[in-house]
Amino acid sequence: SAAAKETSQGEGRQGVNPDEWEKLKLGEDYQVPEAVKEPVRMSHSRHASRAESALPKEPTIKETVEPSTSTSSGHDVAKEQKVTPFDVEGGVDSEGKSLGIDYEKLTKRFGATLIDQGLLDRFERLTGHKPHPLLRRGTFYSHRDLNIILDRYEKGQPFYLYTGRGPSTGSMHMGHLIPFMFTAWLQRVFDVPLVIQITDDEKYLLERDVKKQVELMKTIKAKKPIELLRYYKKMGQDNMKEVIACGFNPEKTFIFSNLSHMGGTFYENVTLMAKCITQSQSRNVFGFTESDNVGMFHFAAIQATPSFCNSFPQIFGTRDDIPALIPCAIDQDPYFLVTRDAADRLQYKKPALIHAKFLPALQGAGTKMSASKENTAIFVTDDAKKIAKKIKSHAYSGGGATQEDHKKNGGNPDVDIAYQYLSFFEEDDAKMESLAKEYRAGTLSTSEMKQACIDKLQEVVAEFQKNRAVVTDESLAYFQDPTRKIDPRPKSKTQA
Ligand code: TYM
Ligand code: TRP
Repeated sequence: SAAAKETSQGEGRQGVNPDEWEKLKLGEDYQVPEAVKEPVRMSHSRHASRAESALPKEPTIKETVEPSTSTSSGHDVAKEQKVTPFDVEGGVDSEGKSLGIDYEKLTKRFGATLIDQGLLDRFERLTGHKPHPLLRRGTFYSHRDLNIILDRYEKGQPFYLYTGRGPSTGSMHMGHLIPFMFTAWLQRVFDVPLVIQITDDEKYLLERDVKKQVELMKTIKAKKPIELLRYYKKMGQDNMKEVIACGFNPEKTFIFSNLSHMGGTFYENVTLMAKCITQSQSRNVFGFTESDNVGMFHFAAIQATPSFCNSFPQIFGTRDDIPALIPCAIDQDPYFLVTRDAADRLQYKKPALIHAKFLPALQGAGTKMSASKENTAIFVTDDAKKIAKKIKSHAYSGGGATQEDHKKNGGNPDVDIAYQYLSFFEEDDAKMESLAKEYRAGTLSTSEMKQACIDKLQEVVAEFQKNRAVVTDESLAYFQDPTRKIDPRPKSKTQA
């Protein structure tokens, strides 16, 4: 609107350049202005033509599970940590002691960049928002090209957000809330479109434990594979309601199920992507083997595709030069390593990423909360009593061995799960600081720390359940409607 334009022009510094966004007329055959084009780097041969370079070549991505023998803090490693989209295991030292997950090392090995104070300061300067607690406390700790997204924000050039969920259970756990809560916040700050992929195909294809799926078929009384596949699809719809409850802007958000949505320009990009990924690259990056099904190899092309804006003509028309920013936990990075490698060859923009650490399992820091192991996780459907019980009986404590010992020597909040969970969900920095201080001093007991955690989680889950209760089938249909046009332009940054 004219009024929004006025404000944004008056604002100057903040992310709205009406001239740039004006060009986003939907459905128009839009020519990319030279100034917006980034040089296309040839990833393979300097002399290869662009057309040639879109054909699959030898993999350029380094082995990501290369062995190494020390952590970033210099510990001996007997068994290397393993982090793939399907498996998360911390390292083990020569005495068989768990080393947890070395996040810094992971980022370096993947070739991503740690988020530093300078980047956070720039974020705050440009957006006028104090970084989210998950950012300033280092849960979102690593990135690829976030600076390029901020450059675009500064110049008022368009970008969008992309994230997703693979339905393996009917309900999400609190770890899954982390990327979604954070993405909802980013959408409020940037006021940009968001696409959310529900990979109901993925969890059917990628479950390697055949026995588990056979059991599942029995449980749901499925006689044919199609019934099992549709069960994943159904879980996807249930998960989608939970995703919606995280509070996205409906006018700017498109959520889709792979099994329901695939087709059109989306499938064109899946095809382009699939041609860019070789089998040996997939083996290196994802750890696939000879006996893995071909759907697993192909799936990477499907998760890559929402990174390209022309997969969503109802939002971006025919433009293909608007990059995505992808918030996710670090386990999803391998998909986007492959995507970024291919983007050059397809003459598309590389997606940018912002990576989170995992919400640890109840059993200890340096692990991952996992939906397949009931007692490692707090589910968004757990009631207040269950939450209290899980924390009291399963949450690993960093307190002293006895009450006396704790009073004398204090506890260690860094490995204390109750404190760790609080650091993910408690906004109040001063409260966090005083809890840590008193715990170290031994004046705050383990059970008091656990109680503080229980109170907070109960509050977050109750709020979530309230939002979930009002998500209707109509809103489910609204978010998924592929014919609904979405205006990608921000209204005005002044109200964010
Ligand atoms: P899925 O369903 O395994 O996980 C959904 C999102 O939650 C993150 N996550 C966690 N974050 C913090 N702590 C944990 N313990 C934890 N466990 C999982 C995941 O990294 C993810 O961001 N293949 C994907 C679905 C997907 C996707 C995407 C995810 C498709 N496109 C783009 C992110 C971005 C999957 O199965 O996610
Ligand atoms: N920032 C405003 C608020 O927090 C509302 C707002 C602006 C908003 N842009 C948004 C909310 C995008 C959701 C998505 O009150």
